[in-house]
Order: sequence, then C-alpha cells, then structure tokens
Amino acid sequence: MHVAIIMDGNGRWAARRGLRRSAGHQAGAKAVRRIVEAATRGPVDVLTLYAFSSDNWSRPPHEVATLMRLLKRYLQSEVARCVENGVRLNVIGRRDRLSPDLVRIIERSESVTAHCDKLILQIAVDYSSRDSIVRAAGACGGAARDRERFAAAVAAAMHSKAGASCVDLLIRTGGERRLSDFLLWECAYAELVFVDEYWPDFDERAFEAALAEFYRRERRFGGLPGPASKRAGDAR
Ligand code: FPP
Repeated sequence: MHVAIIMDGNGRWAARRGLRRSAGHQAGAKAVRRIVEAATRGPVDVLTLYAFSSDNWSRPPHEVATLMRLLKRYLQSEVARCVENGVRLNVIGRRDRLSPDLVRIIERSESVTAHCDKLILQIAVDYSSRDSIVRAAGACGGAARDRERFAAAVAAAMHSKAGASCVDLLIRTGGERRLSDFLLWECAYAELVFVDEYWPDFDERAFEAALAEFYRRERRFGGLPGPASKRAGDAR
C-alpha cells in the first residue's frame, strides 16, 4: 500500500505558540520520525512525504535554509535506524538546484539503505508533479503508448525507486483541501483524507485513524458498486 502525505501546518503550529516558523519545522521533523516508525509497523510499503515543493523556493532564504538543514540532519541521523527497520530511503525531485553537500548526503543514504525492503520512504524535495509529467513526456518522445510505461517514466523523471506505484491513500494535514502539485499522475485513484491537525501534532493515533478511514472506503475505479468493486486495501 502506498501512502502519501502533504505535511502542512508547521508554520501555523508555531504561530499559535508564539514561536518562529523554524520551530514549527523542527517539530515537524519529529513528527516525520514518529510516522515513519508507525508506517513500518503497518501495511504500508511505500510512504511518500512532501518536504519541499519546487514552489517553496519562493519562501524567505532563512526558512529555505532551515528546511534544507533539517533534511540533511534527518538523512544523516536516521540512516542507521532505517537499515535496522528495513527502510529504503529515496529522495524524489530535482537535484540540480540542491547544494552538492546535500546531494552527497542523499546519495549516501540511498546507497546505504538500497538493500532494505520493508518500506520505501520517499521524501519529496524540490518536487513538482507537473515537472515530472513534462519530463516524462519529453523522455518518451511521443512513444509512450501505454500507461504503465509512462508511469515508470514519470517516476524515473524524479529519481523514484518505487517505480510505477499508484498512491492508495493521500493524507493532507493542516486543514487545506488541495493537492499542491503533488503526485498528480500517481493519485489518479487515491483515496483523499484531509485532517485539520497541524503536521507537528499528527501522531500514531491520527495516522491509524486515517488508515481506518481508508479501509472504510469502497474503491470502484470507475466501476459500479457491488461485488465487482474492491474494498480499500485489496490488491489491484
Ligand atoms: C508545510 O507547512 C511544511 C513544509 C513546507 C515543510 C515540511 C517539512 C518538515 C515536516 C520538516 C523537515 C522534513 C523532513 C523530512 C525531515 P507550512 O510551513 O506551509 O505551514 P503553514 O501552512 O502553517 O504556514
């Protein structure tokens, strides 16, 4: 099962406490650790987290620097635990605008965890779904005649190791109800769950509740209700 999360609300979480936005992002990084651990205990085999969109470059330089620092720290400090828990790290998105230092850390964390097969943890950084589609179309040069092959090209365009993996469940925290250029192709039949909690408050219980909501859904993939349709979580 592929779960994708738009981790929204760090800034509002901080503002509510009279703290700087960077404190919200730090608390957000703690929530990432919690949720990754929870995901390894459940039915999830791909978890994709939206850490930094290509449009986030427009934020003030110090906020961008904080986010890049947190990402570096996360990759460096978590790699051993990832190996222990069978988590394969994969940073998806553009790499040509990241610092060489960060790219080295990404490559190292990916190669050290390459053999892990319990969960693929994709962290989206400098990520734009529309860019991935444009690049895949360019790479296929009009030759993509079937969805599977095009899906693989979309994944490859953003360095994804999960291949043509469709998102089953998309969670967005922070109360907004939009996709924000995240996994547009991959979410064609995703079940969408929007929660009001800010990301730093999102805990194991909230994650379990989102999974439970997913299992209550009937997935019809364009078909009719009834025995032919699938319960959420059935293999496709
Ligand atoms: C959206 O909240 C969140 C982000 C743009 C960054 C997400 C980053 C983290 C959770 C921490 C670092 C990540 C990792 C993987 C260690 P916002 O800042 O837009 O919040 P707001 O809408 O309340 O202002």
